[in-house]
Amino acid sequence: MSVRDQLEGTIQALVQDGKGILAADESHPTIAKRFAAIKVESTEESRRSYRSLLLSTTDLGQFINGVILFEETLEQRDETGTPLPELAARQGIVPGIKVDKGKVALANAPGDEISRGLDGLEARVDGYATLGARFAKWRCVYHIGHHNPSRLAMEANANVLASYAATCQERGVVPIVEPEVLIDGDHTLERCARVAEAVLHDVFTALYRHGVALEYMLLKPSMVTPGKNHEQQASPQEVAEATLRVFRRTVPAAVPGINFLSGGQTPEEATRNLNAINSLSRRPWNLSFSYGRALQEPALNAWQGNPAQTLTAQQALLHRARMNSLAVRGQYRDELERE
Ligand code: 13P
Repeated sequence: MSVRDQLEGTIQALVQDGKGILAADESHPTIAKRFAAIKVESTEESRRSYRSLLLSTTDLGQFINGVILFEETLEQRDETGTPLPELAARQGIVPGIKVDKGKVALANAPGDEISRGLDGLEARVDGYATLGARFAKWRCVYHIGHHNPSRLAMEANANVLASYAATCQERGVVPIVEPEVLIDGDHTLERCARVAEAVLHDVFTALYRHGVALEYMLLKPSMVTPGKNHEQQASPQEVAEATLRVFRRTVPAAVPGINFLSGGQTPEEATRNLNAINSLSRRPWNLSFSYGRALQEPALNAWQGNPAQTLTAQQALLHRARMNSLAVRGQYRDELERE
């Protein structure tokens, strides 16, 4: 199969009405933090057991069409010996892989960070593809502060994202480009909108310069919201309008899908906001989710590291996946949470 056909096939599988992506690609420190909250120690075995619980959830494939995995998971197996990526693929869920190596302080830009991992990326992507990964994800973060993000941070991160995306496409792996404008802080909705617009403008300029085919990538951004410590939180309608205003100005119509991250919103908030976004008209892209915490939090709380709670945890995951699937169609209502 040609590289183009591979990219086309993966995009078709990842952009389907009413479906979204599960982010289960927490790095070791991040999963340790999530497990600590439920008093579970993070070991290779506890991570394997939790992630096989997620991927063996019956009917998950009705609402989820892709899963982002962490490197370690690609080579783990369930109790019957089935590789975890295959467990996902059996339900029609495309396995993908986080390929950035985390972030470090950006020199000469106090308060800003840059994501690492470009060195040796070619060989790593080829290796992940051999293990079943058909798409990849790279996250860059932007802090909002008095002097952040700086122009340097926006340009440097845009270049890294574009370079990663070009490398993946060349190998037949669909890149998910994730510029996350962090929710931390007390900034207003308007300030977040201005930062998001500048960030996305730089990202798409860099993608163009690096020759990335927009038709064969997905964007994973944050929604435009006030900072989580801002005194006045915004309604779903306000979030939806601000988010779409920024995206219409910056994201070309050639991009097939935008899959939002949840970024610290509560599970219900993330669903309500996604529903509001999908209730507005005039948008050229498929607008869906690629949630980590907002899909997994209730499942983690139900699981508590106890194998006897597996089914309850899977039901909690399936419920959130179904709620978000309705939100993609603009059909979510608060009452459905209690059904
Ligand atoms: P959250 O939805 O928890 O923000 O995670 C998404 C993700 O993949 C972060 O890189």
